[in-house]
Amino acid sequence: MWDGRLAEIPSIHHGDLTQENFSKNLFKYGVVVINGIESTAEATETLCKQLIPVHDTFFGQFWTFSNEANENEPVYEDTAYGNEEIGPHTDGTYFNQTPGIQVFHCLKPAKNGGETILVDSFHCASILKESDPESFEVLASTKIEHHYLEGTPSGSVLNTVSHEKPVIELDSYRNITQIRYNPYDRAPYRCLGKEEDAREAIRFYKAYEKFSRICHDPSNSVQISLQPGSVIFIDNFRVLHSRAEFQGHRQMCGCYLSRDNFYAKARPFLPEEIRRYV
Ligand SMILES: [Fe+2]
Repeated sequence: MWDGRLAEIPSIHHGDLTQENFSKNLFKYGVVVINGIESTAEATETLCKQLIPVHDTFFGQFWTFSNEANENEPVYEDTAYGNEEIGPHTDGTYFNQTPGIQVFHCLKPAKNGGETILVDSFHCASILKESDPESFEVLASTKIEHHYLEGTPSGSVLNTVSHEKPVIELDSYRNITQIRYNPYDRAPYRCLGKEEDAREAIRFYKAYEKFSRICHDPSNSVQISLQPGSVIFIDNFRVLHSRAEFQGHRQMCGCYLSRDNFYAKARPFLPEEIRRYV
């Protein structure tokens, strides 16, 4: 696990890229950058598909998007399509099958701003466990709802929803296996009207706020300015991403990749004693 003292985000030049060094870096840090890629959507898609099969969603297999959409770029009612600041989060919390790996390639950087900020949420959860074990337990045991609402001329339509998923998912050995953290897509906490339920809701919100403060603490994050030619791969079960506000036209492309299929390819390169447990 890492915090803001991570000296630099691991990177590999395309000429040195192998399945082994890609797999080891993404497994160890939850993030890796591949440099020296032609700055086109086509070259990015080819690179991704060479490494890991795509995780398809209703957004499509591969996307090009910007804050000034044209006829080739579909527009969704999502914060990604604007230019305002987006705080740290994981993507796709509203899917029952959360996308495993997030890929971004900045084809056209903004005039100002737009930096990407990354946070190791496993580290943040371990800080919470140490400093406030009760809040950690609340987030590991409270199953909540996330949803994706798509705007239409007649109002919002519920597109995708996931139920009963905790913010901190643990395995039977109490290891953290996944963080689902996205305040933008979290559905209202369902309170059924009994006093006991209300107390539970308040307990959840207090724990969520404590975890949020740790995730937003600058000492836990690293910053990178994405540039044409550099493709970043982020473990969406572990590393939160956020974006600073920006000015000017900024164009991105990217996709989700399958985490199961990443591990299918990475497993031979991981230490034998842990292959069965990741
Ligand atoms: Fe995102």
